[in-house]
Amino acid sequence: MGYDTLVPPPRLLDDGAAVEVELGGAPRRFHAMWLRDNAQDPATRSPGNGQRLVTLQDITRDIRIAEAAWASGQLALRFEPEGKAVRFNPDWLLHHAYDKPPPVAAGWTGEALTRWDAGLASQTPTERYDEVRNDPGARLRWLGAVRRYGFARLTRAPTTPDAPLQLAALFGYVRETNYGRAFDVRAAPNPNNLADTNLGLQAHTDNPYRDPAPTLQILGCLENTVEGGDSIVVDGFKVAERLQAETPRGFDLLTRYCARFAYAGSAGVRLRSKRPMIELAPDGELIGVRFNNRSAAAFTDIPYDDMADYYAAYRRMGELVEDPALAVRFRLAAGDMFIVDNLRVLHARTAFTGGGERWLRGCYADRDGLLSTLAALEEAAA
Ligand code: FE2
Repeated sequence: MGYDTLVPPPRLLDDGAAVEVELGGAPRRFHAMWLRDNAQDPATRSPGNGQRLVTLQDITRDIRIAEAAWASGQLALRFEPEGKAVRFNPDWLLHHAYDKPPPVAAGWTGEALTRWDAGLASQTPTERYDEVRNDPGARLRWLGAVRRYGFARLTRAPTTPDAPLQLAALFGYVRETNYGRAFDVRAAPNPNNLADTNLGLQAHTDNPYRDPAPTLQILGCLENTVEGGDSIVVDGFKVAERLQAETPRGFDLLTRYCARFAYAGSAGVRLRSKRPMIELAPDGELIGVRFNNRSAAAFTDIPYDDMADYYAAYRRMGELVEDPALAVRFRLAAGDMFIVDNLRVLHARTAFTGGGERWLRGCYADRDGLLSTLAALEEAAA
């Protein structure tokens, strides 16, 4: 007994322009064009690399489903006028079903993400470096935490200068910038970046003046014997949620208009970007936060009539960024590292005083490589 007998037969709609199929206990509609374009047969998709072998122009615009039936647990379709027969696995169809209500409110995030506040401090995702390096299970847990929380810690890492690079190599590739493949964060006499002082730094995302901005940052502690200099992380997606709840208009302004960011602290470098502080995808999904008081440039893309309210929203966002109720605070000791999703989680540092050494070393990497490695590990573990 399979789909063939347990599930109602598929029903053709609109003269075969679509079909309604019972999947997961609910009817789901699929268009003939979508089904034909997503056929998994070896003439449509390369069995070797899964890449599509046809263009949309190879599919006639008046394609119809002439027959639809369950056969040996598969959805068997015949397309006309092509006469092509294709079968679909119902699990694949359910996983890719699009016949669902559209998102109602802007600023939503998917089930893979959990927004957090100070409560995460008691359960900060943390793994040991050697386990993440040697044990695929620990690596999967750690990378999974980065995907869910945009933040994870690591203990007992090497205190060698290339430790952040070695960590990045466990899941992806270093993003080299004008700061080098790796960069130091330590008090310097004439710093070209305020990070290299003993001043506190307001929570921020790094390098919003790049486009694309690095999507991951790794920071490792090689030495920390100063007074102060604690690390703070804040979930920018939680900040966005709070802002939206308090002032829907303020949230709308920060998503609708672009801010400007710039960096010109080194000879030969004039980085500039124009991006919103809170970025939504066209379907309203919250996909990025950029916030950095040091590198915000003059905003020139907000109409005069909205500028005052824009600044009010920007101010409120900064207050939420500094709200201890949203912050997780910790102290990095030599051998500790952490990683943040740099388009989501802001990091800060409290001021520190002399008499010791504070030496962090970091690098940038990208989220797509991390998510790819995570997905491959999940597939291997399934
Ligand atoms: Fe930073």
